[in-house]
Amino acid sequence: MTPVAIRAGEHSYNAFVGANLLEGIGSRIAKKLHGPSCAIISDTNVAPLFANRVKQSLTSAGFQPALITIPAGEQSKTLEQAGAICDEMIAASLDRQSFVVGLGGGVIGDLSGFVAAIFERGIPHVQIPTTLLGMVDSSIGGKTGVNTGAGKNLIGTFHHPALVIDDIDVLKTLPRRELNQGFAEIIKHAIIADAEMFSDLEKERASDALVLQSLIRRNIEIKARFVAKDQFDRTGQRALLNFGHTIGHAIERAGDYETFLHGEAISLGMVAACVISAKKASLPQNQRAAIVDLLSRFNLPTRLPTNFPREKIFEALEFDKKFEHGKIRFVVTPKIGAARLSSDVTIEDIREAMDQL
Ligand SMILES: NC(=O)c1ccc[n+]([C@@H]2O[C@H](COP(=O)([O-])OP(=O)(O)OC[C@H]3O[C@@H](n4cnc5c(N)ncnc54)[C@H](O)[C@@H]3O)[C@@H](O)[C@H]2O)c1
Ligand SMILES: [Zn+2]
Repeated sequence: MTPVAIRAGEHSYNAFVGANLLEGIGSRIAKKLHGPSCAIISDTNVAPLFANRVKQSLTSAGFQPALITIPAGEQSKTLEQAGAICDEMIAASLDRQSFVVGLGGGVIGDLSGFVAAIFERGIPHVQIPTTLLGMVDSSIGGKTGVNTGAGKNLIGTFHHPALVIDDIDVLKTLPRRELNQGFAEIIKHAIIADAEMFSDLEKERASDALVLQSLIRRNIEIKARFVAKDQFDRTGQRALLNFGHTIGHAIERAGDYETFLHGEAISLGMVAACVISAKKASLPQNQRAAIVDLLSRFNLPTRLPTNFPREKIFEALEFDKKFEHGKIRFVVTPKIGAARLSSDVTIEDIREAMDQL
């Protein structure tokens, strides 16, 4: 199997995408890392499903894995939890030669990556994403971190994984709503960088195993391309991956992170970003309609519920302090397959776009 090669500065690593990969992960990891001790970090939903297989595979390859299971959910992504995991790793005699395997969705990926970055000043991290969002987005690019009371991902480091292994079979147990939120990021990638993938998504049965596999590869390549151009998120290239995220994050926050999953909020954020793109970047009307149509085909929201606290969205936007002299750096799309930063989007433009949601 040819992996997708990812390059970011002096770091390079492979992402393997395929069916039935869990059984062989021990030997795959053994080609790259020596251990012998390692920690498998997983959550209470994922560990009962897959941890045994991963543990056995690692043991057969000569490793000594310690399984650390934490409560599932975003509320586990904290400094306290990271500290508790480090304590467990010390108790399990992990050392500077050890490595961390993150087995779970983006929460586990971000948290286990952060632990790997700080334990003994940094040990290797293997990502085994088990959500579609994890596979096409959070496992690629090296951003790790935890939340604080004040906001999401405020504490973290860049720590690229040594290896990413995407076994598409694990997606069979993923709830449909979770799967669909992964498609929100896939559609985002299509809008900003791949018009052909956009029309494939309109045509193909994305749930087909082979279609899904090639889609995941394609999305890893897209994200990796943006990351390679702007490893530390400084030049504005990587910022293009935030299409739909300025308003999407504010919607997520306004709903107290309960009303919408991340991908669902991003779907709404993209619809709003398309209204703004029509005004500021001449996005054609029919392309805007095609985007809304594709999002709804994956059961992603494209309108806000009538009882949603809209005013809270603006409070959340201002909280982000992204406005300078009344303007904000905003990602717009002039046509499907392209994106650029616009620096003259105002809060009124956003208000206008929100009125259409
Ligand atoms: N580092 C990055 O670049 C980056 C990018 C995007 C998102 N993120 C982060 O990712 C997180 C969201 O990730 P997520 O959506 O994967 O959430 P998640 O990790 O909470 O997983 C979603 C839910 O699905 C369950 N689950 C996971 N895999 C399963 C499977 N195969 N079968 C059944 N249930 C399964 C989990 O236990 C959880 O309840 C956020 O914290 C976000 O900040 C990070
Ligand atoms: Zn996102």
